Amino acid sequence: MRKPLIAANWKMYKTPNESLAFLKEFLPLVENHERDNIAIFPTMSSLAYCIDACKGSRVDVGAQTMHWLNEGPYTGQTSPTMLASIGCDHILLGHSERRIYANETDDMVNWKLKAALAHGLVPIVCVGESLEKRQSGLTEAVLRWQIACALNSIRAEVPSTITIAYEPVWAIGTGSTATPRQIAEAHRIIRREVAFRLGQHCADETRIIYGGSVKPDNISQIMAEPEIDGCLVGGASLDPKSFSDIIHYQD
Ligand code: G3P
Repeated sequence: MRKPLIAANWKMYKTPNESLAFLKEFLPLVENHERDNIAIFPTMSSLAYCIDACKGSRVDVGAQTMHWLNEGPYTGQTSPTMLASIGCDHILLGHSERRIYANETDDMVNWKLKAALAHGLVPIVCVGESLEKRQSGLTEAVLRWQIACALNSIRAEVPSTITIAYEPVWAIGTGSTATPRQIAEAHRIIRREVAFRLGQHCADETRIIYGGSVKPDNISQIMAEPEIDGCLVGGASLDPKSFSDIIHYQD
């Protein structure tokens, strides 16, 4: 049984003080929540503060990116060892905004995934097609390619810690949420590709979550779909009450 994960990607929002103010209001709202795993992904400047504030709570804290090497002349980068050393236990990899704006390649996502697993970080690997690719009927080709590249030479026994986030680029920040049917179809494609690469057992264990304009008023409909193991929330996770309402969806 894959325990659902509801995660917040704060992108480049919230200073450390704003992050701590959020947690002061948010943590009491979820202190008795057991149904789902909860994680927040703050900016790098807020990461250590959030890790410290979430100690002893049900909320995991992760970074939005990292380098795949442990040290070196890479200005502006942060290594997996540095993240692990401050108690960071989750990592977002391959978010479309990094693929687009930071030129993150499929190979880099694979190198980062291997480094995350080697350092005991719980990875969320983001995949998703652009509107142009969907309209050209290439959604399956894009998803299979991204999964195949991400999982290249990954050993079959590790995926129980891997979560895959399906984030159609055309649904991110647009208010155009994918329908549960579209999401389920994409998740089936992803799970089939994981099974092809790593075997059915691994595929059955791999959690696949959805991201792209998830809101309090659509989360219950999304989570009612059996193929969906949780959500990765951007804009609607910036407000404590809104993110708490998403976590407390009606099942
Ligand atoms: O990583 C989640 C994010 O890309 C989704 O953003 O604002 O559409 O919920 P949003």
